[in-house]
Amino acid sequence: MENLQLRTFADYKKAYKKSIKDPEAFWDEVASTFTWQKKWDKTLEWDFKKPEVKWFQGGKLNITENCLDRHLDTLGNKTAIIWEPNDPDEESRYITYRQLFVKVSHFANVLKNNGIKKGDRVCLYMPMIPELAIAMLACARIGAVHSIVFAGFSSSAIAKRINDSDCKMLITANEVYRGSKKVNLKEMCDKALEQTPGVETVIVYRRTVEPTPMKEGRDKFWFDELQKAEKECPPEVMDAEDMLFILYTSGSTGKPKGMVHTVGGYLVGTTYSFQNVFQLEKDDVYWCTADIGWITGHSYIIYGPLASGATTVMFEGIPSYPDYGRFWDIVDKLKVTHFYTAPTAIRSLAKQPLSFVENHDLSSLKALGSVGEPINEEAWHWYNDNVGKGNCPVVDTWWQTETGAIMISPLAGITPTRPTFATLPLPGVQPVLMDNEGEEIPNTTEPVEGRLAIKFPWPSIARTIYGDHQRYKEVYFSTFENKYFTGDGAYRDATGNYRITGRVDDIVIVSGHNLGTAATENAIDEHENVVESAVVGFPHEVKGNALYAYVILYDKVEPSEELEKEIKDIVSQTLGPIAKPEKIQFVSGLPKTRSGKIMRRILRKIASNDTDNLGDTSTLLNPEIVDEILAEAKHD
Ligand code: WT7
Repeated sequence: MENLQLRTFADYKKAYKKSIKDPEAFWDEVASTFTWQKKWDKTLEWDFKKPEVKWFQGGKLNITENCLDRHLDTLGNKTAIIWEPNDPDEESRYITYRQLFVKVSHFANVLKNNGIKKGDRVCLYMPMIPELAIAMLACARIGAVHSIVFAGFSSSAIAKRINDSDCKMLITANEVYRGSKKVNLKEMCDKALEQTPGVETVIVYRRTVEPTPMKEGRDKFWFDELQKAEKECPPEVMDAEDMLFILYTSGSTGKPKGMVHTVGGYLVGTTYSFQNVFQLEKDDVYWCTADIGWITGHSYIIYGPLASGATTVMFEGIPSYPDYGRFWDIVDKLKVTHFYTAPTAIRSLAKQPLSFVENHDLSSLKALGSVGEPINEEAWHWYNDNVGKGNCPVVDTWWQTETGAIMISPLAGITPTRPTFATLPLPGVQPVLMDNEGEEIPNTTEPVEGRLAIKFPWPSIARTIYGDHQRYKEVYFSTFENKYFTGDGAYRDATGNYRITGRVDDIVIVSGHNLGTAATENAIDEHENVVESAVVGFPHEVKGNALYAYVILYDKVEPSEELEKEIKDIVSQTLGPIAKPEKIQFVSGLPKTRSGKIMRRILRKIASNDTDNLGDTSTLLNPEIVDEILAEAKHD
């Protein structure tokens, strides 16, 4: 495997320049370092108006050949995955590239034996165990499309996602350990499966020895199926633009968006960014603490690291179990060199006594990463000083489910870092800031602020929303002509460094999870006593943001703590606990414009206790409601 790493800041600048001047030649060169069964005929075809983006057309490949087969000769005995269990007394698992190759091929035949073919969608609802990695790679090996649903989501969230993309199969585990708790995943699946007529087969991995009720003819144990399957499975020949996976992300209408990523561009984008942002050396041990149920896990636990021949850590547990030193215990134990986590985790650990960090030897660390939301100055310094001991570059990586790969970030040890700045775009990425009139703000040496858009395609951009190309166009390509709109605001300093300021739409990032406020509103409105609700985000010390719900009840229904709890429960059941509002305020009305739109700006300010200047309320139909809401606002 050829190395894609830029080594110096001068290298970076040169590569960046080239990537802008001739993007096709630039990506051609990067792409040719991978294993293709047939080379592409056309590097790029694009039209953001349609919108349509196609990379490496005519190229044939399989991503698992790049993640597994091509490493066998040189890295066959190298550890691909180190698995660290929830319980520190259970043994870690070390899986070499050769072993992973065998396991993936073997399980790929289980999929085939159960009728899964190229193009079929398979839903994975699994804990952070190596079998999740094996199942996703097995799908990719035979050309099936995986749709991974985070194992913290509720039954109805699973059912919605399964039905939206017509999954034929569901792969799960009986139970999952999460700290001191055990969660029964199979039970959640059974409930979801009552509403998913399209699912023919359920494969169940036994994570615990508990008895597991199985439905005759539909449910099969992972282990039993392996006994019946052949071990060898040649990789399916895929077109570069064939679908690799679907991953759902929140939208502002309440319905999740199934983002579609395709094989060739995604492989090229994730691998190139992985190698350049993190700058791993030969025997390094890389650990990203995300769950594979999110894009971070897809791109930077599995595909990017494995395609690079790296050793990647998978952790089943949580940062607070058995105590708040667990992350540092693992870094020490596995001699982790590269550690990648989220600001919300950093903030929650920073609140604990420093002894949790100091009790462990963290001298193996070389670089630290952050992702998921803007990292505040305090958290940045705590991370840099106490974890990195001032010796590890902190890479603040900005990207999205939709971008597939890191877009704006320092390259570790190469780009000068600056707290709270994601700094500079990666080669091939062309960000622009847009003003309120929808015009591009010129790239001068003036510091400026605006809405962040991207004006040229990159290989790992999501190609569509599954089953709804029109929505893809509306959400990402209609705000600004001929540009991809990110939904984020950003500031750019005099030297071109970007600082992401946060979402400018109805999406709120809670503990690094991307939540659409509309989804929570819809769930609240399901309660029989609720007329209407409005949900907004407000700053939260640990979570970054939390949700604040304003709820109108039917006449004659008295607000009560009981009711508050019921509303929170309904949200938990419909969407999962992460979407639960932190605060609920019962109100008699919501501030609405004459056209009936809720003026969320005001509600956001009240929730954030930033009420000195509520701005213009003269266009409201019911300005008097603002005083009522203000008087009863819930502030700590
Ligand atoms: C949104 C995307 C990409 C993996 C995790 C989240 C926010 C992400 C940063 C960062 C400031 C960030 C943005 C973005 N975000 N990383 N380093 N600095 N904001 O993926 O769930 O698709 O969410 O997360 O608001 O739009 P996602």
